[in-house]
Amino acid sequence: MHHFSTVQALQHHLNSVRRQGESIGFVPTMGALHTGHLNLVERAKSECDVVVCSIFVNPTQFNNPDDLARYPRTLDEDSALLERVGTDVIFSPSVAEMYPEPATIRINFGALETVMEGASRPGHFNGVGLVVSKLFHMVGPDKAYFGQKDLQQVAVIRQLVRDLNFPLELVRCDTVRDEDGLAMSSRNRLLSPKERTQAPTLFEALTLARNLLLDGYTPEQAKASVRDYMAHRPAFTLDYIEVVNTDTLQPAAELQPPGQTALCIAAQLGKVRLIDNVVF
Ligand code: PAJ
Repeated sequence: MHHFSTVQALQHHLNSVRRQGESIGFVPTMGALHTGHLNLVERAKSECDVVVCSIFVNPTQFNNPDDLARYPRTLDEDSALLERVGTDVIFSPSVAEMYPEPATIRINFGALETVMEGASRPGHFNGVGLVVSKLFHMVGPDKAYFGQKDLQQVAVIRQLVRDLNFPLELVRCDTVRDEDGLAMSSRNRLLSPKERTQAPTLFEALTLARNLLLDGYTPEQAKASVRDYMAHRPAFTLDYIEVVNTDTLQPAAELQPPGQTALCIAAQLGKVRLIDNVVF
């Protein structure tokens, strides 16, 4: 496994990979890796000759300085995990390497960023769009792998790839969960033991709403029952529950063809903000 922290060293290596006609799969991450991340790497391994995983806690996508300061950083553990699943290249640049000067351009995703995470975290998707564009240019992958866990991020990156003609295929991978249903997340390790036992409530609420929708209740009725369910669990502050189209992210008044409707939820539990979704 190669480990680079400068763009120049990374590109020098990947140029020779490309000259040998090998395909490149790319998994961008912010580290503190778990099985959800490793699943993306394994999928990339099965479809590409060489797999690059980036680890970079991107300051421009954090709108809350405490969240950025608290974000777990576990590079040594991450490297060991990545080596175990056969990653070919780790790219872990410094902030100065990624942003020698503060970025001045702004990316506006229009209606995709006025809802859910975009509405709750102003500027977040500008930062995601910036760093992912930079990483795509640096790595030049044939395929890039993203998790459904961050459904809105997938929609935003799909738009980025289309609008800026990135010559790559975007692959969306299923959400990996712990046995009790909690979607794996780097932020889960910031939960106290008590909060960790409460955290599966989010998936329970989604399951409740999914069953109501499948039984013929309207999105508004399903959302109301989730609000009620969460109101009885005072450890949580519900941010939003939405039923949306998976591509446009706009509210869906009814269930759409398979794969096109998602239930999305976000809530605060102690100091940790949790998000989750299920696709029908
Ligand atoms: P991060 O939160 O580290 O996630 C990296 C990738 O892992 C994302 O595509 C995310 O959707 C996926 N992922 C996280 N938890 C998952 C789970 N439980 N199951 C499946 N996939 C999961 O997302 C980011 O980093 C950043 O925004 C990034 C794209 C790297 C840009 O900075």
